[in-house]
Amino acid sequence: MSNIIRFGLVLLSLFCVTAHAQTSGDAPDVAAGKRRAAVCFACHNVDGVAKIPGVPNLAGQHRGYLEGALQAYRDGKTRQNPTMNAMAAPLSDRDIVNIAAYFSLLRGQGGGVAVADAVDTGGGVTPIPAAAASAKTEAVSAAPVRSGEAVYGSVCFACHATGAAGAPKVGDKAAWMPRIAQGDATLLQHALIGFKAMPPHGGCAACSDAEIKAAVAYMTAKSR
Ligand code: HEC
Ligand code: HEC
Repeated sequence: MSNIIRFGLVLLSLFCVTAHAQTSGDAPDVAAGKRRAAVCFACHNVDGVAKIPGVPNLAGQHRGYLEGALQAYRDGKTRQNPTMNAMAAPLSDRDIVNIAAYFSLLRGQGGGVAVADAVDTGGGVTPIPAAAASAKTEAVSAAPVRSGEAVYGSVCFACHATGAAGAPKVGDKAAWMPRIAQGDATLLQHALIGFKAMPPHGGCAACSDAEIKAAVAYMTAKSR
């Protein structure tokens, strides 16, 4: 065997060991990644192929690369982009592993979205009957409830401060007037189950219904 080939084999086996070590201790939960990434779909799309100019495609990108990119955005210095710094700030290490796995497994243009379909949890767009919704609110209200302002400042502002993805800007009375006119119950329902490019719970799976309600109240109060 030539030295070149032998050297290549050594490198290859080193690579396999590293790759194995990375995945075995910390197996990603792709379905959880998809749920956590709901907030990302407004720009990166559920199939990881962006529909908005200037937004990169994530489908099929290398998992390690995606993890590194998200860590770099999260620390706010290594990679600077106001939108992505805000989007990555609340992600835990686990979220980053899961989300990176989800997007890396998608096949991209033309290839279909087998993984997205396989882990589809229903998209959360089934209307919640009012009674069930309020029962759920009661069930989660035992957890400490963050203020509407705190929830807005950690999640909703990513789109609603800038108008990203077509979100009505907080403080833009003209944009909010027809929405507020639908009534509080409809607004809340849309925030809970999702509405067009607006992801369910504003993408915050960890936010309780009560916290979403407080955030909607905070946003509309600033926009009347
Ligand atoms: C409001 C639109 C928007 C949302 C929502 C959004 N992104 Fe992004 N994303 C962008 C833009 C724009 C860029 C390019 C930024 C840059 O130039 O660094 C980007 C870049 C990235 C990159 C780097 C890709 C590469 O090729 O280097 C990753 C990874 C990423 N986003 C993941 C996410 C994840 C995960 C979420 C959800 C937690 C998310 N994004 C939510 C707009 C968005
Ligand atoms: C990824 C971007 C994004 C994030 C994050 C986001 N929203 Fe939205 N939101 C939208 C978009 C886009 C719309 C407008 C949808 C439309 O009418 O086409 C919207 C609309 C709304 C509406 C009006 C619905 C209606 O019936 O007109 C409410 C209320 C709302 N969002 C609340 C929230 C709350 C509360 C949060 C945080 C918990 C949040 N949003 C986070 C994108 C976002």
